[in-house]
Amino acid sequence: MTSMASVLVVTGSVRPNSVNEKVIPIVVAELEAQGATTTVADLKKLALPFYDAPVPPASPDFSPTHENVKAWTSQVAEADGVVFVTPEYNHTMSPLQLNAIDWIGKEWQDKPIALVGYGWTSGANQAHATAREALAVNLKAKVGDTQTNLFLGNHLNPDGSVADKAAVKAKLTATITELLEAI
Ligand SMILES: Cc1cc2nc3c(=O)[nH]c(=O)nc-3n(C[C@H](O)[C@H](O)[C@H](O)COP(=O)(O)O)c2cc1C
Repeated sequence: MTSMASVLVVTGSVRPNSVNEKVIPIVVAELEAQGATTTVADLKKLALPFYDAPVPPASPDFSPTHENVKAWTSQVAEADGVVFVTPEYNHTMSPLQLNAIDWIGKEWQDKPIALVGYGWTSGANQAHATAREALAVNLKAKVGDTQTNLFLGNHLNPDGSVADKAAVKAKLTATITELLEAI
């Protein structure tokens, strides 16, 4: 790891009292405990439009004009690594995050990425399958193998508060260690 790796932590829900709001600080704390500096990309505040550029992001003519899309792109470009904290909605990744991913093309290439998710039935494992398809297979980011899947009703309480502190800590430590080693 380079000294003081700079890591962008991406939120995944705009719901009031979301589980996301409780998991984000735990991820930030783990990153900082391992010596990284962190920035939170708050997709609620960024309020990115649905993808409406006239050409796809891979096009040489792609040049987004929305100020918040430009700000989000800069955050990704400048980060040494990115952590997605995603809920599972209908067996896939947070659509909020999918739209944010869509807005960026070449900046994803070779970007070290870690996946943290939560849900009831698979702890967001199915959401992570989508995330890997989009980010690793299509966009050629370096998505770490060691993802964190937190099960509501087991590791987390339904309101997102931690139920099994040791298990949550062990999973996040492994995911973040792998990310920082990739940077
Ligand atoms: C539209 C929607 C779809 C959902 N689909 C799933 C699902 O497929 N699998 C699952 O485990 N939980 C699912 N859930 C439950 C969420 O995991 C749970 O509501 C969680 O709190 C959502 O994260 P958030 O609070 O950060 O928004 C769904 C929730 C919503 C609102």
